[in-house]
Amino acid sequence: MKNNQKMPRSELPEWLNLQCKAKDMGHLHLRDLANDQERHRALTVKVGPFFLDISKQKLDVDALKKLISLAEAVELPNAIKSLIGGDIVNNTEGRPALHSALRLPVDAKLIINGEDVVPEVHQSLARIRQIVERVHSRQWRGFSGRAITDVVNIGVGGSDLGPFMACQALNEFVPTEASQLKIHFVSSIDGTQVSDLLGTLKPETTLFIVSSKSFTTIDTLSNAHTAMQWMLKSVGDKSLILAHHFIGVSTQPQKMAAWGIPENNQVLFWEWVGGRFSLWSGIGLPIALKIGMANFEAMLAGAHFIDNEFSQKPLAENLPVLLGLIGVWNATFLDIRAHSVLPYDGRLKFFPSYLSQLEMESNGKSVDKQGNRLNYSTCPVLWGEVGPNAQHAFYQLLHQGTQPVSCDFIAPIKRYTGTIYSKEAEKSLQVQHQLALANCLAQSRVLMLGDASTDSDENTPNFKRYQGNQPSTTLLLDELSPFTLGGLVALYEHKVFVMSVIWDINPFDQWGVELGKKIADKMTNALANGEGIAGFDASTCGLLDLVRQAERSVS
Ligand code: F6P
Repeated sequence: MKNNQKMPRSELPEWLNLQCKAKDMGHLHLRDLANDQERHRALTVKVGPFFLDISKQKLDVDALKKLISLAEAVELPNAIKSLIGGDIVNNTEGRPALHSALRLPVDAKLIINGEDVVPEVHQSLARIRQIVERVHSRQWRGFSGRAITDVVNIGVGGSDLGPFMACQALNEFVPTEASQLKIHFVSSIDGTQVSDLLGTLKPETTLFIVSSKSFTTIDTLSNAHTAMQWMLKSVGDKSLILAHHFIGVSTQPQKMAAWGIPENNQVLFWEWVGGRFSLWSGIGLPIALKIGMANFEAMLAGAHFIDNEFSQKPLAENLPVLLGLIGVWNATFLDIRAHSVLPYDGRLKFFPSYLSQLEMESNGKSVDKQGNRLNYSTCPVLWGEVGPNAQHAFYQLLHQGTQPVSCDFIAPIKRYTGTIYSKEAEKSLQVQHQLALANCLAQSRVLMLGDASTDSDENTPNFKRYQGNQPSTTLLLDELSPFTLGGLVALYEHKVFVMSVIWDINPFDQWGVELGKKIADKMTNALANGEGIAGFDASTCGLLDLVRQAERSVS
């Protein structure tokens, strides 16, 4: 086994077995598998509030066994232990990836470099709780003495997408004490969001959270600068503004201090939390402000529940492992290079964009952990939308296009229990939810079977035919709650890790993105004062000239 580990993945006997299996199965249509009455029993797992159904995937029990053999050959169980135990799994940056430590209960212990990290995690949670209580009890006041009514999270990537997604998903879980508080998100560097938003806010009752793991991201710092300039127009005293209107969340206290954030307004987290895995840390402050601390803790508990499943369950019953193995099977062995995430619940509208960072920034890699180029496909292109809306938009391509696409259908089984509207309105909403579920099940069935699910025959023209054969997973939640959302996110975090272990890549760095930041710096100088233009290619020079000329003619 040890020798196997040094061997490139694609030379492992278990890998080669899977290639043969994929060749055999590749000739089949999903409808050839659909009539096996055993599939639903054999290819589904229920764990707590989660029900995972992979019976519409193009694989059989034998293929699944072979995938599990590959997972064993690459020592996935040890890799899981290393991740959760705090070993250095991020090899290019020399650090652990301890998002699971952020949801450990207070009486747990996790020793890293001789120190238990659990007490500091809970100190940070206590700090979040303190801020939430002050804002909710209207004791956090602006420069004029009035209570805060609006909170603006300024961040980007992992410092935006997770909290934004969770705040949208859990809008129904706002406690009474937070019902008057509005939470806003600003991320984009071009200023559209911040300029639109500032026009609707009052400086004296607005609190900004500047969220940035590195506290160097220009997108975030430029939005924060604009916010500060806007505040300064109302009150000239910068230290008053900083004390009452800016919180910083970062791993970099000195950089926050250099920007002006007073120590009392700093929420710290740690280098060992990856940006796209950070919503459980201080980066989750907007979530806690939105849904209250008890609900935020329920999210952490849901994620911890999945952490336990991940670290304790055998591979064949392990939800994140199964999700990850299916992902590898589709992307690498069946060569399906596009993956769509389709929640049948409007509250999860931003879950696909959150996942596109989580999966593509983590596993969009082409070099293994030893630095060798890979000779197999890794992360597919991932996108998605609320399923029923996507049916009226891009499903056409899923049904009749030329691209193989794998899909994840996600839906809560129960919804609209105890809504505050009239009995009739509640009933109507429940019917709407049932319609959504019916559409969800109908779409996964048609994508699997194609024409075989309709009454078409040999006289049906080609333009009315559906090829089907698009594999999908269905993930049902009992209901959407802080606990199940926490679990859902952790499920995908660990799915990403499983895939990275099979592919032998580091999911915790993002060197591809770093390059963009450097190039943008040079370009900013070139645009501002022409510096270094001569060194650029002809296409870029042409565009720079055009923009600079236009700017000159305006000024
Ligand atoms: O540019 C990519 C990235 O580094 C992401 O990985 C990260 O989530 C985002 O930028 C924001 O970084 P920071 O939290 O340091 O501002």
